[in-house]
Amino acid sequence: MQTFHHINSLRAVLTKERAAGKRIGFVPTMGNLHGAHLELVKLARSTNDIVVCSIFVNGLQFGLNEDWDKYPRTLLEDSQKLENVGCDYLFNPDDNEMYPNGLDTQSRVICPTMTDVLCGASRPGHFEGVTTVVTKLFNIVQPDEAVFGIKDYQQLAVIRRMVEDLCMGIEITAAPIHREADGLAMSSRNGFITSEERPRVSQLNQSLNWVKEQLEAGRRDFATLSGDASRQIENSGFKLDYLSICNSKTLAPAAHDDKAITILGAMFTAGARLIDNVSTELE
Ligand code: PAF
Repeated sequence: MQTFHHINSLRAVLTKERAAGKRIGFVPTMGNLHGAHLELVKLARSTNDIVVCSIFVNGLQFGLNEDWDKYPRTLLEDSQKLENVGCDYLFNPDDNEMYPNGLDTQSRVICPTMTDVLCGASRPGHFEGVTTVVTKLFNIVQPDEAVFGIKDYQQLAVIRRMVEDLCMGIEITAAPIHREADGLAMSSRNGFITSEERPRVSQLNQSLNWVKEQLEAGRRDFATLSGDASRQIENSGFKLDYLSICNSKTLAPAAHDDKAITILGAMFTAGARLIDNVSTELE
């Protein structure tokens, strides 16, 4: 695996690959890679000739009081892991390479739909930071396909919509959520969960699944269901951010006759904000 810190040198090598007819798959990450990231890379590996992965902790998507400075930076370990799963090129730019004119005057990509609800409501500006950096990374790598995890469901939905709206011509592939044995979705932020909290944090996933089961059993009293599930989470000792039953495509609150439904939730532990979601196709 070759590592590049500069846009021009990565572009030069990818131009040659493209000219040789190679199909390019791309996995953008912020590093601190765990099993779920490596599954994204394996998925990209299975459908492309060349796999590019990026590691960049994007300041533009973190709020002022968020954990940008605490976000774990583990480049050596990450590089080894990427090499082991067959990544060809790692792009690891610094802030100056990605934002040479600074963050304040950076041109932005704004997706007005779906970005001010759910995670967007409690993280103002977050999705604008994501869509802006993902657009820049897409322009640098120019992949045929990009792989994103379903765990960040809202991010995936926003990126799909952005790619469609802006005619980017990139295939977006969704990779399944990877979970610990008790259902906890794998995340770089799980490292901030304390050992005392750890046995209780899977309540988020259990409550989302409980709502899914109730919907599949025919219930459509969405407000009562989400209220009951929210209380389950709060009773397990965590502060809830949101729990919403949504239309899977638009992320609008689910309507009575919606078939494709996704239940999304976020809660706070002492040192982290955890998110999860489960989807169902109702009859
Ligand atoms: O999901 C992430 O790790 C980030 O939001 C992404 C897509 C790499 C953009 O910084």
